Amino acid sequence: MTTRIIPVDVFDLVVFGATGDLSQRKLLPALYHRDADGQIPPGARIIGTSRKPMSRDAFRAFVLSAIETYVPAEERNPVFIKPFLERFDYVAVDAASETGWADLEKILAPNPDRIRVFYLAVGPDLFGSICDRIGAHKLVTPKARVVIEKPLGKSGESARAINDEIGKVFPEQSIYRIDHYLGKETVQNLMALRFANALFEPLWNSAHIDHVQITVAETLGVEGRAGYYDTAGALRDMVQNHILQLVCLTAMEPPASTASDPVRDEKLKVLKSLKPITGEAVSSATVRGQYRAGASGGVAVPGYLDELGNSDSTTETFVAIRAEISNWRWNGVPFYLRTGKRLEKRESEIVVTFKPIPYSVFEVTAGPITPNRLVMRLQPDEGVKLWLMIKDPGPGGMRLTHVPLDMSFAKAFTARHPDAYERLIMDVVRGSQTLFMRRDEVEAAWKWIDPILDAWKGSNEPPKPYTAGTWGPSAAVAMIERDGRTWYEDVA
Ligand SMILES: NC(=O)c1ccc[n+]([C@@H]2O[C@H](COP(=O)([O-])OP(=O)(O)OC[C@H]3O[C@@H](n4cnc5c(N)ncnc54)[C@H](OP(=O)(O)O)[C@@H]3O)[C@@H](O)[C@H]2O)c1
Repeated sequence: MTTRIIPVDVFDLVVFGATGDLSQRKLLPALYHRDADGQIPPGARIIGTSRKPMSRDAFRAFVLSAIETYVPAEERNPVFIKPFLERFDYVAVDAASETGWADLEKILAPNPDRIRVFYLAVGPDLFGSICDRIGAHKLVTPKARVVIEKPLGKSGESARAINDEIGKVFPEQSIYRIDHYLGKETVQNLMALRFANALFEPLWNSAHIDHVQITVAETLGVEGRAGYYDTAGALRDMVQNHILQLVCLTAMEPPASTASDPVRDEKLKVLKSLKPITGEAVSSATVRGQYRAGASGGVAVPGYLDELGNSDSTTETFVAIRAEISNWRWNGVPFYLRTGKRLEKRESEIVVTFKPIPYSVFEVTAGPITPNRLVMRLQPDEGVKLWLMIKDPGPGGMRLTHVPLDMSFAKAFTARHPDAYERLIMDVVRGSQTLFMRRDEVEAAWKWIDPILDAWKGSNEPPKPYTAGTWGPSAAVAMIERDGRTWYEDVA
């Protein structure tokens, strides 16, 4: 099965921080794929900027090297690469001073009527000054948009300050706050599964669902990003954005349509219905951990404090939370959330566990009946698995067994699986905000996160240590086992 490609309108895309890690690993490869698939029309331009002075040709050579490094050889085609590189221009611009802005103005001047995207692939401390200068140089045209990356602040207050700075220059409908999880195929599929099938929706509530687990597990440590990570931690880096967005899509009511505001209105209601975790409750409903030396993939790895070179840090590299949504649909259904670095496996999934059957008509000899589970895997192998009970095949007595209906998207669809950034960048050009976070969503998410951060800060308890290569501190296992449940482990 192949994907239908609908070309977007012609655009000028200005990438601030075009020489950075995000640009090289994600943005440039995503743009290459969209171009090679014929989605980017002739004449569309990509203008890279950073402080480093560089000629246009030197920047094109830089782009080529990023493509050669981050696009697998079998997906690179010289026929497409040459015209792709010709789209690129470069201007040295300092976000924090006037250097280069007149040059950027000149480069954009010929096309005031086309879609103009400013992608801020720089630290959030520069968002305000870049937007100020974009405004001062009158670069905001009716079709201008700005894209910003996480982290959007370190608390509700700092997020508001960033949003205010950007909002002085761009109206809300032109601001695209990226959460790349929303561009993932499985996350999109969550909407399709829930709202394009009659099967699940009648069961999607506290009468039929026992609990939900959301796990985003990484095997990597903090690598070269220890400096940034230590100022954030797992709660800010993963839960405030990615995991809460997954909670929203799992728990929201059917939206009136898939247009941006109806979807975002429903997500916002979920965020507003999250039961606050405050004061004393924080110690029983959350677990924070920090990895110590251990092994990852059979190789010895250092602990977080050694990687960081600071033995005093209390930043968490793991967090588990028992969340609840106080509304009619979900009252009494726990949402167990966990994420961490240096865990046993790289695995992100949403697991919906249904309630046990009310009564078994089978003999005890048929064996135990395991409740149904719907597992949506986001990575590494995107797909959906529905665990069902069936009769153990073969002659003899009635014995029951638990088997998955398993669909791996990679196996089911032979077309290349696009990265989330490909979809999201094209959505920005198209002006579709459905997969981007609205200001009120970000602020509502912080409102739930802030008291947890405050309680952690106010307690003298350090994060619980866990050995790299395990599933985190034993307290996270104890947290779910106290409720008579266990973390899902894929055994098939
Ligand atoms: N890397 C990722 O995987 C990732 C994932 C999610 C979100 N993010 C977010 O994306 C943003 C960029 O991250 P990154 O990892 O790409 O950072 P990075 O590798 O440090 O790159 C930063 C870029 O910004 C440019 N820059 C720095 N100061 C500047 C200034 N005053 N004026 C103009 N350009 C300036 C740098 O070039 P010069 O120094 O030459 O100016 C470089 O091109 C951050 O907000 C980060 O949190 C990154």
